[in-house]
Amino acid sequence: MIKIPFNKPPLVGNEFEYMQQAIKDGHISGDGTFTKKCHHLLEGSLGVVKSLLTTSCTHALEMAALLIDIQLGDEVIFPSFTFVSTVNAFVLRGAIPVFADIRPDTLNIDENEIQKLISPKTKALVVVHYAGVGCEMDEIGEIAEHYGVEIIEDNAHGLFGKYKGRYLGTIGSLATQSFHETKNFSCGEGGALLINDPQYSERAEIIREKELIEAGSLGVWWINTLG
Ligand SMILES: Cc1ncc(COP(=O)(O)O)c(C=O)c1O
Repeated sequence: MIKIPFNKPPLVGNEFEYMQQAIKDGHISGDGTFTKKCHHLLEGSLGVVKSLLTTSCTHALEMAALLIDIQLGDEVIFPSFTFVSTVNAFVLRGAIPVFADIRPDTLNIDENEIQKLISPKTKALVVVHYAGVGCEMDEIGEIAEHYGVEIIEDNAHGLFGKYKGRYLGTIGSLATQSFHETKNFSCGEGGALLINDPQYSERAEIIREKELIEAGSLGVWWINTLG
């Protein structure tokens, strides 16, 4: 009987050399030489304002939910077919998920189903480029702009995929990547947040450093507590 593996991790041959180099350099946590190289590569090749490596796409989605400041009762529109993390990240912060049907040809969110789901409470629209095939971003972008709703791209599957000549992950205000071993580009488990709207850059750095108290509120706390 032939056993078909669920996936084969993509390995290119330099992994041992690079791991040895990191160990020799004495820097095996994040934000070392290799993180910087990845940021440089993602920003240079995609043309995004900023990229931040994370421990997973799930983590990047959590950051996106914090960055757009999801509050209890905000509605977020998702495709009805995706991985749990796409939705959990927002629901855990109090969002109400609103599911749009998907297209039978691409399994992506059906752009014609979105408008009727928008309400005054809609805060964001999360699209998933399923299997790296782009959603209909022209139509989706028009709806989002018309109603003043943020677009987040869950691009876990689609690094370097394109929609009408534009790289997936460069269209929404934020986008997320997965480098889990089931994806085309992998580091075992990992991810990235791509930032296209520069208003999120500084706060994203702070959140990524696990500093969830904003610099502003910390200042207020400092003044109130210590005079
Ligand atoms: C569409 C989608 N989003 C998010 C994720 C989560 O990725 P990760 O395992 O890097 O957290 C996956 C994982 O398969 C996914 O398919």
